[in-house]
Amino acid sequence: MAISIKITKTTQSRIHLCDFENIEFGKIFSDHMFRVDYMDGKWQNPEILPYGDISISPSLSALHYGQSIFEGMKAFKNPEGKPQLFRPMENIKRLNKSAVRMGMPEIPEELFYEGLKQLVSLDRNWIPTKDGSALYLRPFMFATDDFVGVRPSINYSFIIFCCPVNSYYPKPIKVKVEKKYVRASDGMAGYAKAAGNYGISMLPTMEAKKEGYDQIIWTDGRSHNHVEESGTTNLFFVINDELILTPKPDGNILEGITRDSCLQLLRKEGYKIEERNISISEIIEAAKNKQLTDAFGTGTAAIIAKIAAIGLDGTDYELPEAENRKVSNWLYNNIYQIQTGKIADPFSWVETID
Ligand code: COI
Repeated sequence: MAISIKITKTTQSRIHLCDFENIEFGKIFSDHMFRVDYMDGKWQNPEILPYGDISISPSLSALHYGQSIFEGMKAFKNPEGKPQLFRPMENIKRLNKSAVRMGMPEIPEELFYEGLKQLVSLDRNWIPTKDGSALYLRPFMFATDDFVGVRPSINYSFIIFCCPVNSYYPKPIKVKVEKKYVRASDGMAGYAKAAGNYGISMLPTMEAKKEGYDQIIWTDGRSHNHVEESGTTNLFFVINDELILTPKPDGNILEGITRDSCLQLLRKEGYKIEERNISISEIIEAAKNKQLTDAFGTGTAAIIAKIAAIGLDGTDYELPEAENRKVSNWLYNNIYQIQTGKIADPFSWVETID
């Protein structure tokens, strides 16, 4: 069924206010946004309108009980100047998986996809082309009932807005192994991209920053003996530049799309990969013996975030210099060049928008 989206274009583009040479992540928003509302049991009135404030009631249920989920996606410009999306259906499916976990309605895939494509097409001039940059896309859904009783909302909104961005982490990061706080445990919502999963990371990350770290590594909720993910990325560890270790998605970590893309690239290149429970002690032993040749986080925003040092119980274990990282440098170049259409896309990950 054809989807009809009402389009109201801005009369005053703000693009001249954007300094494309010096973009700070998440601070500048493109001219338009896509919105569709869930009312009377169905998604209604999809529209693209000028980006701007939305009006909400103090009793908006998302604010009180956290029925709020989101995705992170990116659009790039290929060498012919056409916008392209990276594995958009994966994000669409993951948002709906998060929706189910949070008791929220799923959004029809074609409605999400059509809104996304039309929005990116309209704001294509906002896609930056400087090395490492992209147009970050933020789809999110939240409960909109004006009601303070605890029950699933009846009404919801789904919005996508865009911001031109550079790398999320401009330099390798120092991470602290978090052993006091827990992100997720069995039966919780660790696999969902739920706002609350990020909310609970704020205090531990603030504490880690006071100790000189950039990020935390979450450990499992039962024993604190196994690594799970960082506050913003999935995690990979490389032993002797040969063996790749990454935590197995067990319901408690986000099933990252960049993570999956890295695994497919590494498998194709012939790397030995182990997706399993990874103990902190084996990582620290490998770092002590100089066998931990690389470690990095993967995510849409960060793409590949190299880890400079891992802090455990007050001791920092340094990793090799960033420029000597065989695996993370190779992965970053391959993924980013596929995303920007500079090299062939053997997996058909990229979707071009005309
Ligand atoms: C992303 O990588 O897109 C995320 O959603 C992580 C967020 C912390 C920026």
